[in-house]
Amino acid sequence: MPLPYLDPTLPVAERVTDLLGRMTLAEKVGQMLQLDAREGVKHLIEDVHVGSILHASPQRVLEAHDVTEHTRLRIPLLVAEDCIHGHSFWEGATIFPTQLGMAASWDADLAEQVARVTAVEVAATGIHWTFSPVLCITRDLRWGRVDETFGEDPFLIGELASAMVRGYQGEGLDDHTAILATAKHFAGYSETQGGRDASEADISHRKLRSWFLPPFERVAREGCRTFMLGYQSTDGVPITINEWLLTDVLRGEWGYTGTLVTDWDNVGRMVWEQHIQPDHAHAAAAAVRAGNDMVMTTPQFFDGAQDAVAQGLLDEAALDAAVARVLTLKFELGLFEDPRRPDAARQADVIAADGHTALNLEVARRSLVLLTNDGTLPLDTDRPRTLAVVGPNADDPDTILGDWAGRSGQADWLPDGHPRHMISTVLDGFRAQVPDGWTVTHARGADILTLAPDPEGEFFPDGQPRPQVVVPSPPDESLIAEAVAAAQAADHVVAVVGDRIELVGEGRSTATLELVGGQVALLDALAATGTPMTVVVVASKPLVLPPSALGAAAIVWAANPGMRGGQAVAELVLGQIEPSGRLPISFAAHAGQQPTYYNQIPGQHGDRYADLTQRVPFAFGEGLSYTTVEYADLQVHTPVVGVDGTVRAQVTLRNTGTRPARETVQVYLHDLVTSATWAAKELKGYRQVDVAPGETLTVDLELAVADCTIVDARGRRVVEPGAFALLVGPSSRDEVLLRGDFTVGG
Ligand code: NOJ
Repeated sequence: MPLPYLDPTLPVAERVTDLLGRMTLAEKVGQMLQLDAREGVKHLIEDVHVGSILHASPQRVLEAHDVTEHTRLRIPLLVAEDCIHGHSFWEGATIFPTQLGMAASWDADLAEQVARVTAVEVAATGIHWTFSPVLCITRDLRWGRVDETFGEDPFLIGELASAMVRGYQGEGLDDHTAILATAKHFAGYSETQGGRDASEADISHRKLRSWFLPPFERVAREGCRTFMLGYQSTDGVPITINEWLLTDVLRGEWGYTGTLVTDWDNVGRMVWEQHIQPDHAHAAAAAVRAGNDMVMTTPQFFDGAQDAVAQGLLDEAALDAAVARVLTLKFELGLFEDPRRPDAARQADVIAADGHTALNLEVARRSLVLLTNDGTLPLDTDRPRTLAVVGPNADDPDTILGDWAGRSGQADWLPDGHPRHMISTVLDGFRAQVPDGWTVTHARGADILTLAPDPEGEFFPDGQPRPQVVVPSPPDESLIAEAVAAAQAADHVVAVVGDRIELVGEGRSTATLELVGGQVALLDALAATGTPMTVVVVASKPLVLPPSALGAAAIVWAANPGMRGGQAVAELVLGQIEPSGRLPISFAAHAGQQPTYYNQIPGQHGDRYADLTQRVPFAFGEGLSYTTVEYADLQVHTPVVGVDGTVRAQVTLRNTGTRPARETVQVYLHDLVTSATWAAKELKGYRQVDVAPGETLTVDLELAVADCTIVDARGRRVVEPGAFALLVGPSSRDEVLLRGDFTVGG
């Protein structure tokens, strides 16, 4: 007879109770711990009884599975990893554009497919849990993690995050290609001060409810199985122990029954960083009482939680409740029957399978945003040409992939990153895509930066290594001269500039948004040659572009477009595909304009700075095609509608050019009079339609009145009857939006 907890025919609750009854206090505390596997796993499993590990190399994952089988109770491990745009740290896996790049497609189906493919690759490698997607709203471009977000708009974030959660979690927990998704970082982490990472988030409950919580609420209600708590404090209370957010809102109002994992050492931070707990026993007790299930990388929690029970600071029943939730997840995943070990045969079939690479190319194409074009693009391919592909990012395989990939710093087992032959840089892309008879030349033209040790020392107080500091590279006359010579000898120059991995990520916020190092000097020199120039910006976030770039023949923003990114860029410039990406985030003219998100609350003296306007060069929703699409004749069919009703409208699009367009028809709402201040417009929906050259078509639009809400002064999300305007057009810019009015009856 198997022990009851090992009997799969028994109900999960019964198995959990049986197992809990057999566990020592130390084993229970260990179940709540998720520890870093980079230093080894044996000790973590045998002595600390960890419930979960993260950052385990492929060898360590295998070892962890083996060691676990010989433990007293054989409780399976949850193996977790940041597989956030593909299986980030599995050598040779499919690496997609970053979340921000994907967001530029505005295509939820595509995002779902990316997550599905990622789950299929990840699940074959013995990993059960990905820390993705990120639902943070970017509001300050200086923040280092802009690339990990879906941009600045809560509605778009909700659409794409929901799609990714569906993709990861597949058909449900018993689907062997499913992995647990994580909605992170709950909530308000991105509301930084001065763009600084993980600073105190000065944010009211109403502001949270207005903008930051809606995407989280959506995925909580849709069954995202895990939530990760941000590092920050709000109103003096770290999210890790924020009773209002965790208990009242998440588990209370939204009825969330999933698992909560802290972020990195959140529990320890309450002691050594935030100084709001005297020691780890108090911190552990507070974290458990607040409803955390899994404590990431606070090894001191092991002794701390046991001390807390011994000192009477923590009731063992509270600990049992958290452990029961962790065990329930493991039972529901079926890990006691099948721990989902790495499967070499499946890996050979699925990792970087042809279909996955094809999807990756499609996402990369859709992630590109054509920001300006004087008509030079697509390049005329009727006659042979010489193309100079220059710039520090023209042939940089790491920047094409972006953060959380290969050798971006979080994993220590891929010193050489992903296989070079799998990655198409922009230079590779042009070399492969140009028509016969064309010549592609190359010069680096400039360096971006070098690194120097942080004068403050090698480590932070918690032992984490301090990133090295960035030293911008000065313009190099000989590099510039080479690039200028290449441009002069060419019919067209493609200048590939942007940022680098050292300017991106946790603890790597930037004070400036300008192109770093010798890049501006390079662009100025290239512009002076008079050779027509396309500027390709391969960058983790919107950067401030100099006049020489803004005056170029064309600008393409390529975020970090993933393994097939270079091919996609070349195809776009050569006119082999149509540009269709739209900005999920606004570009600023100057770092001092921050914040530049479009849905701000009106109300300030004047509308500009004394020395600069507040106008952004490229606004949320913008992006060009190789044709022009005219919007006309917005008709609202429901001028008066009840609170339970649906606003119905239509708009006419006409493709007045000679190339096809994939148009993203954007629907914004303006609530004319509100009881509390509110954004002048908010994205409420969009539709993507293909419009053939010369075609005129009518697009039907619908908006539920239940979504025409504001958050009132008491923090309630309500529809306030009265006059509204529907604003429809190709971007968030006022001047391109058609307006139709309607009234919501009381
Ligand atoms: C800290 C980051 O904030 C979080 O996003 C990530 O998932 C964890 N580290 C684990 O790597």
